[in-house]
Amino acid sequence: MNTRVRITEVAPRDGLQGEKRIVPTDRKAALVRTLNATGVDEIEVSSFVSPKWIPQLGDAAELFAMLAAEKPRGMTYSALVPNERGLDAALAVNTNARKAHRVERLIDKISVFTAASEGFSLKNTNATIEETLTRFAPVIDRAHHHGLMVRGYISCIVRCPFDGDISPVQVGDVASRLLDLGVDELDLGDTIGAATPETIEPVIMEVIDRLEGDATNPFGDPTLTLHLHDTFGHAADCVQMALDLGVRSFDSSAGGLGGCPYASTETARAPGNISTLALLEAIKAAGFTTRVDLDAMRSASEFAAGILA
Ligand code: HMG
Ligand code: MG
Repeated sequence: MNTRVRITEVAPRDGLQGEKRIVPTDRKAALVRTLNATGVDEIEVSSFVSPKWIPQLGDAAELFAMLAAEKPRGMTYSALVPNERGLDAALAVNTNARKAHRVERLIDKISVFTAASEGFSLKNTNATIEETLTRFAPVIDRAHHHGLMVRGYISCIVRCPFDGDISPVQVGDVASRLLDLGVDELDLGDTIGAATPETIEPVIMEVIDRLEGDATNPFGDPTLTLHLHDTFGHAADCVQMALDLGVRSFDSSAGGLGGCPYASTETARAPGNISTLALLEAIKAAGFTTRVDLDAMRSASEFAAGILA
């Protein structure tokens, strides 16, 4: 059995996008550099979204430019893209990096993002699920034309803070639409950390069904990723369940950055994405392996935890 699991670090993007404090670009670059040294497979570096919506990541192009000369061999950098304007910005970053540093492709992958619930889709992107999918069609085609991979996120796979419980079929139907549009990989987001092993199992099974029975492609590359937030402390158990079902790719954030604003209260900040150290522990306990160096990840986690201080 293939025991290798792919890890995508989302601390620079999901970890920082909801923070009141805007982290200076050179501090973000330092965070990515510490993550470069950990052996993670991918880093979600930033988002090319409207700075009116997410001012925290309005420096995506500058950040990528700072990192262009130092991208490690074999590393995948990705960024969120909501529309063609975002894709144009991502492609411009790649053009500039090619000219300045002869980097063949600085951004390897873009991620489009929609939801299984209408309420979240409207709040997050001012668009219905259908409207987001219509926007994605030219984005996905053009990204592929430029040699970029495309990840398709589906948020609120178990529960939505606005619409309540979500059925596995709702998730499966959005997954099928994204696959029809040509995404290379699906990423299931438990946005508010509501999932338990019992509630996530039927969702993963439904989506694997839409992937014709396998969470990896014939080359062994993952086509399904799980993106857990750890609001109620169930994320590690959900990882175990997902591994049992054949999922071989997970998102996590160093230092557990990224508390969901919809799951926080006035006085208590909800825990963020599953922390990468907790994810690694769950993967190891289940008998699986990663490329990540634990000591380097401990240092990166300390750095991440202090970045908002
Ligand atoms: P809108 O206001 O409906 O659209 O936003 P618009 O076209 O009217 O644009 C508004 C302004 O933004 C305009 O500027 C546009 O030009 C500009 P103005 O003319 O008023 O000066 N604009 C842009 N600027 C830079 N880059 C762009 C861009 N597009 C428009 N790409 C829009 C629609 C989708 C743009 C907006 O809603 C948006 O940016 N939303 C992003 C929200 C976001 O990033 N959310 C967090 C990521 S998703 C997530 O965290 C979940 C995940 O972690 C998984 C999970 O946990 O479930 C992935
Ligand atoms: Mg998230």
